Amino acid sequence: MPGQGIGSASTIAQRSEAYNVMTTTTPKPGGLEDVVAVTSAICDVDGKQGRLLYYGFDISDLAARSTFEETVYLLWYGRLPTRDELDALRADLAANRTLPPEVLRMMGEFPREAVPMEVLRTAVSLLSMYDEDDADNAREANVRKAVRLVSRMPTIVAALHALREGREPVAPREDLSLAANLLYMLFGQEQDETIVRAMDVALILHADHELNASTFAARVTAATLADMYSAVVAAICALKGPLHGGANEQVFRMLQAIGSPDRAAAYTREQFAAGKKIMGFGHRVYRTDDPRATVLRELSRQVGEDHGDTMWYDISRQVETAVKQEKGLYANVDFYSASAYHVIGIPTDLFTPVFAISRMSGWTAHVLEQYANNRLIRPRADYTGPRDQRYVPISER
Ligand SMILES: CC(C)(COP(=O)(O)OP(=O)(O)OC[C@H]1O[C@@H](n2cnc3c(N)ncnc32)[C@H](O)[C@@H]1OP(=O)(O)O)[C@@H](O)C(=O)NCCC(=O)NCCS
Repeated sequence: MPGQGIGSASTIAQRSEAYNVMTTTTPKPGGLEDVVAVTSAICDVDGKQGRLLYYGFDISDLAARSTFEETVYLLWYGRLPTRDELDALRADLAANRTLPPEVLRMMGEFPREAVPMEVLRTAVSLLSMYDEDDADNAREANVRKAVRLVSRMPTIVAALHALREGREPVAPREDLSLAANLLYMLFGQEQDETIVRAMDVALILHADHELNASTFAARVTAATLADMYSAVVAAICALKGPLHGGANEQVFRMLQAIGSPDRAAAYTREQFAAGKKIMGFGHRVYRTDDPRATVLRELSRQVGEDHGDTMWYDISRQVETAVKQEKGLYANVDFYSASAYHVIGIPTDLFTPVFAISRMSGWTAHVLEQYANNRLIRPRADYTGPRDQRYVPISER
């Protein structure tokens, strides 16, 4: 059943057996690797075959044929929409883009040099105070909140970028898709169809990924019956780290440091010799190609060719070859999104916020699923500290 806490034992006997196993066994290896913490029908990651499914639909199929809005519907409702249902969701997502004026005003007070993910985290948190449904945890109210959250993420990201540059934020348009409107607000003018489609595909690919760190954070928070805003703020906090969503920004900084394709192999060797990781490689679940990276590799090549700027793609290819040879590691979702986003014109420190725009759809889907069949998520720690210590008064220490 969806939404259960860690361990799916349902009877008291099973639960205490599970408890004994968990408390007498040293958790190896760490990081909850391969631990099944919840059941979920949303997203299936097959790490051996390199397959990713949203409600049974292969990600490469969705990337080739769907749109971000349709994918959002799929994640929230568990099936593809009819034409009318899709039109209704599109209209709803478009109508909710404007930020409450108080939130925009407060964003204007933030320091210009503030880290974009911190601005995003704070702005999303502020939104809850201006949401009339905030305290209502019924599914209908939570779907309305999810619509507002997904709609407003691009507006926040574009506004923070304008404000830090001392410009007036560009007001959202209702006649554009979410991807087209994001680019329109960021750059102040509509982008051509191929760029909009590239952005849309990138959003589809990043929308959900099972129980990744940020989604887990969202579900743990939702499982306490805290509100949806609290859950997604927890998720944004987890996404920020360089081992998770923060990796795409680090990837581009690395490509810049390498500077040209012929330096990639030497750079990679030096990094490994120094015991450093190469961002954008490796994954907790995939032991083969990450299917999202396969689509993004091609997307990065295409946008590079369309813009007459393939250097970042070329460096990326060389790094990928070198990392594969040296360590046998595969590129993950963050690797080729970096070069693609750069060529599209997205500022490097907005790469992770753009990831968050997309992943908001997955976080909200998981929060809805968690509430639908909730049990507090409360695992145990393998205690390694001392026991039976005698308290010594401070004067005697
Ligand atoms: C994603 C990631 C956190 C998964 O971590 P994990 O499942 O805990 O895997 P580990 O970090 O234990 O890695 C296993 C081995 O591969 C190595 N490895 C994993 N990713 C590596 C990378 N990007 N560069 C170099 N070595 C790497 C580790 O050093 C470790 O080697 P060891 O066994 O000799 O110590 C990890 O691969 C990583 O840090 N990647 C870079 C950050 C990144 O791109 N994050 C985005 C993920 S979508």
